[in-house]
Amino acid sequence: MQTIQSYIEANKDRFLNELIDLLKIPSISADSAYKGDVLKTADVVKSSLEKAGCDHVEICETEGYPIVYGEKIIDKNLPTILVYGHYDVQPPDPLDLWNSPPFEPVIKTTELHPEGAIFARGACDDKGQMYMHVKAMEYMTSNNELPCNVKFMIEGEEEVGSVNLAKFVASNREKLANDVILISDTGMISIDVPSITTGLRGLSYVEVEVTGPNRDLHSGLYGGAVANPINVLTKMIASLHDENNHITIPGFYDKVENLSDAERAEMAKAPFSLEAYKKALDINAVYGEAGYTTNERNSIRPTLDVNGIWGGYTGEGAKTVIASKAYAKISMRLVPHQEWEEITQLFKTHFESIAPEGVTVKVSPHHGGQGYVTPIDSLGYKAASKAYEETFGKTPIPQRSGGSIPIVSLFEEELKSKTILMGFGLDSDAIHSPNEHFGVWNYLKGIETIPHFYKYFTELSK
Ligand code: BES
Ligand code: MN
Ligand code: MN
Repeated sequence: MQTIQSYIEANKDRFLNELIDLLKIPSISADSAYKGDVLKTADVVKSSLEKAGCDHVEICETEGYPIVYGEKIIDKNLPTILVYGHYDVQPPDPLDLWNSPPFEPVIKTTELHPEGAIFARGACDDKGQMYMHVKAMEYMTSNNELPCNVKFMIEGEEEVGSVNLAKFVASNREKLANDVILISDTGMISIDVPSITTGLRGLSYVEVEVTGPNRDLHSGLYGGAVANPINVLTKMIASLHDENNHITIPGFYDKVENLSDAERAEMAKAPFSLEAYKKALDINAVYGEAGYTTNERNSIRPTLDVNGIWGGYTGEGAKTVIASKAYAKISMRLVPHQEWEEITQLFKTHFESIAPEGVTVKVSPHHGGQGYVTPIDSLGYKAASKAYEETFGKTPIPQRSGGSIPIVSLFEEELKSKTILMGFGLDSDAIHSPNEHFGVWNYLKGIETIPHFYKYFTELSK
């Protein structure tokens, strides 16, 4: 009988080539120009699940992009694992910062990936990590090693807020019934420090518009006498943090979960080098909320960040103008117990209240979602921990991540099951950035580790 290791060894070129083919399709959910490609990706995912041994695979239409659903039910008395992932990707721009085109995958070695890494948009987030599950399934079904039932739900709108998936989940509770949800769409501390993600931050995303005069004006004739929307907007944004980098929106911190000193001490044990962190980003200092470490700032504390800001003249040369309007996109990362809709409302009320006379302000909420924390004494966590012990030879460290997968808290609400986040990416994989990549080693290690999770979860459930 083949082991997962010998199966990977024998099939690794094919595993890489199949992923490369998937990465060639630009499934950018945010940009409607790529609609045909997103739909094509769903079809490719569907046929990959069929080939991997699912008994039933379907494309579930939604008001947006479809959800690919697949299952193999071997025995109703055995546990059921629901695998979630996403086949859509972030827009690749700015294109000129890529060393190779984002949808022409290439394998190159890097310092952290001596065995090579696949460079392409979606390589790590999430096509590569999602596809590890498809290949692990292929191994289990073709070697008679599938120990339990499995359901796959791969969506195409994660990067734009999973609005239609939320509706799908709420109206398909029975179809999606499961004992544990398994997701690979996060990262791990490093190649030799495996970790399991135990927390995700929530999100509130808004767009703001500041309007001054009814038309763009000559900045000499009118400058100094009317409110300049860009000046006003930047001043308003600056006021959202105080000198300690605390967020100034009234009520913003009211529900924030404060970790005990013991929990913070536990967190501080995770290996971390501030010097290496700064070096990787070419910065001479870190920056953030007073009283918290870097790892606390980016995981257990809420934040407010401008993601984009525009208005006025940005073309070549100079144009003397006071723009009529200025805009910004702002995201707030939230921590457990903060309610994203309430935070959106607090932001709106506050932002409108600080607008000076002479401008009008419009706040438009985009999307959001709740944060998530999962206990480390659940069956799923224990099974995941044992799986990593088997393939990494080390006990993984629980780690809260700063990123968001808003649908995870909704899974718990609607499906009443815990999610296990087995991520195999590295922070340096540049997800959402130019030159996104995913280590070949990480990809294969993921494929190797997943079947062990199935085995231990089934055993522990007895
Ligand atoms: N896979 C990421 C989230 C992630 C990455 C969590 C690494 C933890 C570690 C996901 O695709 C993502 O990018 N989520 C968005 C939110 C979404 C609503 C657009 C995010 O975190 O910005
Ligand atoms: Mn993702
Ligand atoms: Mn993403």
